[in-house]
Order: sequence, then C-alpha cells, then structure tokens
Amino acid sequence: MAASVQLDRERIRELFDLRRRGDARGGGLEPVVYTGDPYPVLHRLRETGPVHEGVVHELLGFEHPAFFQGLPEPDRPHFSVFDFETCDRVFRDEVTFPSSPEPVRGEAGGMSNSMLYMNGAQHRRYRALVQPSFVPKKAQWWITNWIQSTVDALIGGFQADGRAELNVDFDAAIPVLTITGSFGLPVEDALTIREALGAAGQGSDTLARYVFPVIEARHRRPEDDLISVLCHAEITDENGERHRLSDDEIFGFSALLLAAGSGTTWKQLGITLYALLTHPHYLDAIREDRSLLRPAVEESVRWCPTDPMFARFVAEDTELAGVKIPKGAVVHLSLGAANRDPARWERPDEYDPYRPLVPALGFGGGPHVCIGQHVARAEMHVAIGALLDRLPGLRLDPDAEPPQIIGMYERGPTELPVVWG
Ligand code: HEM
Repeated sequence: MAASVQLDRERIRELFDLRRRGDARGGGLEPVVYTGDPYPVLHRLRETGPVHEGVVHELLGFEHPAFFQGLPEPDRPHFSVFDFETCDRVFRDEVTFPSSPEPVRGEAGGMSNSMLYMNGAQHRRYRALVQPSFVPKKAQWWITNWIQSTVDALIGGFQADGRAELNVDFDAAIPVLTITGSFGLPVEDALTIREALGAAGQGSDTLARYVFPVIEARHRRPEDDLISVLCHAEITDENGERHRLSDDEIFGFSALLLAAGSGTTWKQLGITLYALLTHPHYLDAIREDRSLLRPAVEESVRWCPTDPMFARFVAEDTELAGVKIPKGAVVHLSLGAANRDPARWERPDEYDPYRPLVPALGFGGGPHVCIGQHVARAEMHVAIGALLDRLPGLRLDPDAEPPQIIGMYERGPTELPVVWG
C-alpha cells in the first residue's frame, strides 16, 4: 500500500529533475535545458501569422536538437501553429491531420503502436476499452484507492520538518505511485518502473518483467485495478468479432498509461504550486474558499501547460491560415502559444484563477483529448487541498533560490522549496 512506502529521494531527484533531463542530449554530452521564457517570442510569432514553416524550438532560437512527438522526422517538411483557432481545428480533423504518418497495423502491442498513434474507428475501439475507468465520476475511485493515501503518507513524511522541497518530496511521487498502484504493480518498484519507461530498448524488457506476471495473475483472479479491467475487456475487431485483448496489447496499453500518467501530472502539479506560491494572495484565497482550487488548477493548465507542443502528420495537401501545407508534412501545435492567444483571453500572460473559464488546449483536443485529465485533476485537487489543510502558513522558503519554470517541450519548476508554521 502506498501509505507505508518511503521512496528514495536521491533516485527521485535523478528521475524527476528537469535540470538533469534536458531537452537535448547526444554524443555523450550533458543535457541542454531550455531556461528562457518562450512566451514573448511565441507572441511575436503569432502576431506575424498563426502558421510558420519550421519547428517550434528552432523558431524560438533554441539551437540544439530537441525531441518530442513528431520529431525529429528530418525528411519531412515541418510547420508550427501558434493560435488557438488553428490548433483546435487541427486537433479536431483527424482525417487531414492524423496522429501517425502510417495507420497502426495489427494489434496495439507497444508505445509506438498504442492508441496515441491510432486514428478513426481503430482509435475509438481501443480508447473505449479504458474510457469507463477515466470518466469524471470514476475520480472518487482513484482518490479512495490510491491518491488520498499516497498524499497523506507523503505529507506525513515531512510534516514535522517545517520545510520540504515539494517538487521531489511530493509532486513527483504522487502520480507515479497513483498510476503504478492502479495497475496493481508493486508500489515499492514504482521508481524502477518509471526509469524503465524513460529508457530506450532495455527499458521495455524491464517493464515486461513487472507487467506480464501481473497480467497472468489478473487473468486468473481479477482485482479492483486497471490491469484487471484490460484483462477482462472485450474489443470488437474490424470484422465485428468480439475478443479479449492479447497479453501484448494489455502490455502496450499499460506502457502508454504508465508513461502518460506519471510525468505529466508531476510537472503540472509543480507548475500549479509555483503559480500559487508566487501569487500568495491566491493561495490565501483558496485557503479560505476551497471552491477556488478547481479554477486555480484549470488556469495553471492554460497559463503554462507542461507539455506545450503536440504534433500531427498531414495526410493530404491542405492549407492552414493561408499557408500551403503539403501531404507528408508534420504540423506542430504550440499549445503554449494557443493557450495565451489574446483573441481568446484578455491579459493572457497573467495567471488569474478568477478569469472566466473557457476551454484551453493543455489537455489537447479532438478525439485524442487526454483520457487521464480527470485523474490528473483529482491528484492536483487532493494534493493541494491536503497541503493547505496540514501545513498552515505554507510559503516559498525566503532563504532558498527562487524557483523557475524551465524546459522546452516538458516544462516544470526547477524546485519548490517551502516552509510553514
Ligand atoms: C496534468 C497532467 C496531464 C496533461 C497536461 C496531459 C496532457 C495530454 C495531452 C495534451 C494529450 C493529447 C496528446 C495528443 O493529442 O497527441 C494527452 C493524451 C493522453 N493522456 Fe494525458 N495528460 C495528463 C495526465 C494524464 C494522466 C494522469 C493519464 C493517465 C492516467 C494520461 C493519459 C493519457 C493518454 C492515454 C492519452 C492518449 C489518449 C488518446 O490517444 O486517445 N494523461 N494527455
């Protein structure tokens, strides 16, 4: 049970420190991390036209190769989109702008042929299998089974100290423990699993060693967890026949959910806490009125989405905002820029939880919109609520280096040193 687990702090630091991960690596060099403020340049780019030829990090002047979905693809033309309306349109049109250059063939057996890269009916069939575990009314299932106990145990570990570094001691641990626990995987091994997800090649073997025995056990005896849902779900194939998922498919699903569910929420929780700790009047307001927690989290996902860029491939010659886009190109959607489009939000650079709530793109849009968004919200609400309940006077440590949000395609705070009492 998560409640009794003490995670190795140094190992968390290695796995979950954006300064060590970097946006660009290669040739045995140290990782290079983007530490600038991208938003002034993103505004300038949008002002000169919503669609530009090129890749977001290059247009921002970052001179190292950076990697994310849709990169590097050196043989394709690349275009980037910077306004809300065009990003939204591309997300919704999966016929012209599919998520992968070629249809995913055969079974979904790994990350690269997971539902993230499927389109149309195939995507709908696979997504429908897990959707019931991720609907808003299932949030309480996640909270009761995994989130609340994890949050309580982590705060219990540092409450008496009067200080903590929330990025490592709290934010990083919650999502990885939640998603690992929800898969019925041994919580003690959460960090090894996280490490395996980030590693190329061998990582998949390590993950397989953990996941396949659990799949086998849940076939025999289902429990109240996600692997049991996948083991017993039935999918209707293209010929209308219903069958259970193969073990390879269940493994592929697991790899996607474990990867998508841990890194993102860690960084977005950090960004939300950064926003509140650097705007203490909002933190005070939430202390007084917890109904403000929800808009505070929504505003953080708008103001600074942790993964501010997703890509689509172009299936046929087309045009976006007057720019001709050839078949075979990659279109990069700058969600960071779209979420600060002045055509949709007044004073877009300000973090303001009181602003009227209109949908933003931090969780994506269209058919691939984040399936885990309600789990992510539940984790952030429970986590911040518990910090406020149990650490009166929570504030940034005035003697520590002020935190900063860094990273190009994975953004989050450097650290969050806090004191209370
Ligand atoms: C604050 C935290 C999170 C953020 C900002 C986030 C963001 C996103 C975005 C932008 C997409 C769309 C990708 C695309 O269109 O290509 C996405 C998809 C996805 N997310 Fe999240 N996510 C978060 C948390 C989670 C969690 C907690 C889970 C699982 C427990 C999860 C699972 C997924 C999956 C499986 C997809 C693919 C859905 C599909 O292809 O239909 N995410 N996420």
